[in-house]
Amino acid sequence: MFKSMYNWIDERLDITPLWRDVADHEVPEHVNPAHHFSAFVYCFGGLTFFLVVIQILSGMFLTMYYVPDINNAYLSVDYLQHKVAFGVIVRGMHHWGASLVIVMMFLHTLRVFFTGSYKAPREMNWVVGMLIFFVMLGLGLTGYLLPWDNKAYYATKVTLNIAGSVPVIGDYIQRLVNGGEIVGAQTLTRFFALHVFFLPGALLALLAGHFFMIRKQGISGPL
Ligand code: HEM
Repeated sequence: MFKSMYNWIDERLDITPLWRDVADHEVPEHVNPAHHFSAFVYCFGGLTFFLVVIQILSGMFLTMYYVPDINNAYLSVDYLQHKVAFGVIVRGMHHWGASLVIVMMFLHTLRVFFTGSYKAPREMNWVVGMLIFFVMLGLGLTGYLLPWDNKAYYATKVTLNIAGSVPVIGDYIQRLVNGGEIVGAQTLTRFFALHVFFLPGALLALLAGHFFMIRKQGISGPL
């Protein structure tokens, strides 16, 4: 049944060349763990992407309950955690996934570094990778404030004080990110917008560039 459905669509839209171009190509010998056990390090980028997808999906469900204002943020998270069916699982996935995805990304970066894959012609993809790295750290920072409990509040105070200690422009940066003089209502809405719209948008655009370049250039050769 699926085959005839597929054929019906394919006759009209000619989708076979599209997905063949994206998905139908051979894995080089030197990145295949079935041939060389140590080649499993080449899976780290793909595993990082898998975790990014988990973060996006679990985050989308969290926004069904989360309320980004200082009176309700903590209560909405508490409600989600203790009253909503599977809420504790969805929040747990997002919470633990947030740490795991950074660890995985770091391992992927180490693989790229130690196999020298940042060298020509892949310099631009290394630079895009660095931008991705900062966006991911930004997602961690902004997400940490959202539960609006003591840990979130004081952790953000500390990080923004660190930002404020930068010579000359520190004070300006701190007030810009704070949305004023203190970590308060403006900071929470600002961090929420950054966490669910600005940074994920930037991340998806950068990942599109990352994957485009990987397809164009192929995975780097064996050592
Ligand atoms: C969300 C974060 C990231 C994701 C999902 C991701 C994903 C991927 C994937 C799937 C590959 C194909 C090869 C492999 O899987 O190892 C790859 C390759 C590559 N990545 Fe990333 N990446 C991320 C972050 C980074 C960072 C932080 C850097 C460096 C600063 C970086 C630099 C590169 C380079 C240079 C390649 C080409 C490597 C080669 O051809 O051997 N990536 N990335």
